[in-house]
Amino acid sequence: MYQEAADIDHIIIDENHLKDRVTELGAEITRDYQGESILLVGILKGAVIFMADLARAIRCPISIDFMAVSSYGNQTESQGVVRFIKDLDEPIENKHVLLVEDIIDSGLTLNYVVEHLKLKNPASLKICALLDKSKSRTKAVKVDYIGFDVPNEFVVGYGLDYAQRYRTLPYIGILKPQVYMA
Ligand code: IMP
Ligand code: MG
Repeated sequence: MYQEAADIDHIIIDENHLKDRVTELGAEITRDYQGESILLVGILKGAVIFMADLARAIRCPISIDFMAVSSYGNQTESQGVVRFIKDLDEPIENKHVLLVEDIIDSGLTLNYVVEHLKLKNPASLKICALLDKSKSRTKAVKVDYIGFDVPNEFVVGYGLDYAQRYRTLPYIGILKPQVYMA
């Protein structure tokens, strides 16, 4: 076992569950958009792995773009401050935009991004998040597609990091406590 896998205390969503749920989400999105072109907007970097799989599970014409915001630094608790790092490459006016996020915790990040995108007049704007820590929401956001509800614990894997590590683990897991203390 390599070091990153050895740092995991336990797995909460395994590879097969992720795969099945992403397939279901893709089918649901395909039905809802009925062949319309969709612009997937991923929020860097956490959404990258999920978005790569989700994009291939949707049977509609897809284009992709990315934005980067930062709300965390290397801490495991939200600082309540959202910093804007990278805007979209292309205009989204009159496009069907589906925002893809790894996890919604307080809701601060997504709220900020949604308000910013609304000003650009997309034809529609929906949100798809792989994970939802619904119990720790401080800012209400309407999420259209959710992969899994997760408990209020810090999770890593399948795109989600701790201090930029663990993103390539194929499952969602909880780190051993000593990893934070190291
Ligand atoms: P929010 O602004 O509190 O909703 O935080 C959302 C962002 O914080 C996500 O896009 C993640 O990048 C990060 N985040 C929140 N919870 C976790 C977690 O458990 N593991 C890894 N990243 C997290
Ligand atoms: Mg994120």
